[in-house]
Amino acid sequence: MKRLAILVSGRGSNFEAIARNIREGRLEAEIAAVVANNPEAQALETARGLGLNAISLPSKGIDTDTYARIVVDALAPLEIDLVCLAGFMRRVGQPLLEAYPMRILNIHPSLLPAFPGLHVQQQALDYGAKWSGCTVHFVDAGMDTGPIVAQAAVPVEDTDTAETLAARILVEEHKLFSQAIAVVLGGRYRLEGRRVVRV
Ligand code: GAR
Repeated sequence: MKRLAILVSGRGSNFEAIARNIREGRLEAEIAAVVANNPEAQALETARGLGLNAISLPSKGIDTDTYARIVVDALAPLEIDLVCLAGFMRRVGQPLLEAYPMRILNIHPSLLPAFPGLHVQQQALDYGAKWSGCTVHFVDAGMDTGPIVAQAAVPVEDTDTAETLAARILVEEHKLFSQAIAVVLGGRYRLEGRRVVRV
């Protein structure tokens, strides 16, 4: 069974969706660790409640590469096949990228390359975009720049606030992430330049 490490910072609804998809047979994998960089993350409590290996590794005051080394050391004995960033709000440092080359996925709540970074639903509204959505991509050294594995689009309604748009996107996130994880774990793709092509 392929082994996932899920990195989180807060609520953890994407982590919960992955756990549910595994439990209900839609994704073949096991969660070997849930790592939170924020000791207050709700996801940690949820993970413990599910009997999973919940690891609190606070990142406050630690620089990006030092923190990445801490995470690499924590994951090393766990034989992780794929690292999934599920609402992980810190940059990923070089040691983590080197330990898991093309084996780190992130989910982002916009149609990249539109609106990288933070507060992206508000960015989409302010820009006047008529469609937004979510993107699962491989993580590279840039900010939300790695090769795109999968995307799902949702309409932006005239009456939307950042919250209502985020909620509509989140429904798609909860399906898309597990689908993309299955593609990558199954090796059902090849990379052509920065295009992830299904095989
Ligand atoms: C999700 O919308 C995720 O796409 C986003 O944070 C939210 C986390 O929710 N991630 C980013 O913005 C990454 N830059 P969750 O904790 O309920 O999964």
